[in-house]
Amino acid sequence: MNKTILCIGAGYVGGPTMAVIADKCPEYKVIVADINAARIAGWQSDRLPIYEPGLEEVVKRVRGRNLFFTTDIFGSIKEAGMIFVSVNTPTKTFGAGAGKAADLQFWEKTARDIIEYSEDDKIVIEKSTLPVRTAAAMQRILSSNTKGLKFEVVSNPEFMAEGTAVDDLQNPDRVLIGGMETPSGAAAIQRVVDIYLHWVPRERIKTTNLWSSELSKLAANAMLAQRVSSVNSLSALCEATDANISEVSAAMGLDSRIGGKFLKAGVGFGGSCFKKDILNLVYLCEFYGLPEVAAYWEQVVRINDYQQSRFVGKMVRQMFNTIADKRIAIFGFAFKADTGDTRESPAIHICRLLLAEHARLAIHDPQALANARIDLAGAEGVEYCSDPYEAARGAHAIAVLTDWREFRELDYRKIFDEMAQPAFIFDGRNLLDHAALYELGFNVYPLGRRALSHLE
Ligand code: NAD
Ligand code: UGA
Repeated sequence: MNKTILCIGAGYVGGPTMAVIADKCPEYKVIVADINAARIAGWQSDRLPIYEPGLEEVVKRVRGRNLFFTTDIFGSIKEAGMIFVSVNTPTKTFGAGAGKAADLQFWEKTARDIIEYSEDDKIVIEKSTLPVRTAAAMQRILSSNTKGLKFEVVSNPEFMAEGTAVDDLQNPDRVLIGGMETPSGAAAIQRVVDIYLHWVPRERIKTTNLWSSELSKLAANAMLAQRVSSVNSLSALCEATDANISEVSAAMGLDSRIGGKFLKAGVGFGGSCFKKDILNLVYLCEFYGLPEVAAYWEQVVRINDYQQSRFVGKMVRQMFNTIADKRIAIFGFAFKADTGDTRESPAIHICRLLLAEHARLAIHDPQALANARIDLAGAEGVEYCSDPYEAARGAHAIAVLTDWREFRELDYRKIFDEMAQPAFIFDGRNLLDHAALYELGFNVYPLGRRALSHLE
């Protein structure tokens, strides 16, 4: 049996996923290929192209042993028996479905590469997140080969989250593997199950039909994002009523039917996938003639946008209805802690809204400054500070936008003394010790909780 696995796409998913597979399955040869030569060079170097706790250790252990990174997509297609496809599937920006549907051009390109360079039968595994029934299109394209080759399409969506990718991959809640309900489909599913069995208990490996597997991935992301939007919508009501969203979340979460996770109010969800996957779900519902279902899920994205504008509206209101020419320190630009990723980060939208009010921004983030510079390229009145104290010096306000633990450890007395007065903190992640900050003299505006202000 051919024990060479190829993954096409060396991104946030392809890189870590294959590193863990190589680590856990030493008898397999794992190749990760990408058209982006700089990214591949990064994976081959001491400075990996993505920041992910614990990843460097795993990569260093297996790279050159049974994990290889290459731009030779064609040679590796020939060599592999199983091909994971983990290319990007962003929201379409043009044509029919623009702004909602998934752009499958990268995906289809890989299918055509696979046909062109394959010399024997292969199992093709969808690792990217895809609209339900994409596998049917994939199967059709692959079956159009004129070489008499047989390709079996399997869906194996990835549920890891950034910042905890290595742990999620090593200890997944479940692994989902969907395939055709035919004998050859079942055999292909089993080949993928055999990989995961190296470290995942059998009861956590769920096999389904193709369409359930594809849809489960979109559904899981939509449900997670829906929880965040639900709790964020309630945070607005808490601020109007003096209820405390942390207490409300804790009280709800203690109900075992609800559960405590993903109930943290904040400035909204970011990341490359939640918004795109929900919009994709909305598009699919519209496509299948289900407008009520589409509107239901679309509201999750609307509340997310609302939460960000609401946060900025509160800043402007509390700072005497003008922030023009005021320096504002932005603590955190990544979409969550422990990552340098800023894709769809709430910070991007919030910073743009603040700049539209003519504020001057001093942005600090432990990992994401390089990406912040790209996201806000061309914007005037933005400083990028590797030192949080420098960002806060002379600022009228601090806005906490990412839940980096190190923000809790800063010397806020020193920060307060060097800020313009009255000094404000808008804690968009409810991360800091609000009572202590208030004692120091700050006017503190948490999210979904009563403000602690010396001005009222
Ligand atoms: P990414 O943009 O980081 O990586 C995708 C890679 O594919 C890029 O390096 C790109 O150069 C490469 N690529 C595109 N077309 C190619 C081609 N024809 N041949 C070879 N390489 C090609 O994306 P990502 O974050 O790794 O996400 C990949 C997929 O996984 C998406 O569908 C996403 O929805 C899904 N997903 C992402 C996460 C996450 O945490 N980022 C988690 C679960 C699922
Ligand atoms: C998410 C899912 O958690 C993964 O299971 C999925 O595989 C992945 O999307 C994907 O398909 O890309 P990720 O976006 O990396 O993972 O990070 P999350 O931990 O889910 O956080 C998403 C956003 O929601 C962040 O901006 C985070 O700050 C926010 N969030 C999360 C909250 O505001 N409150 C919470 O209680 C939880």
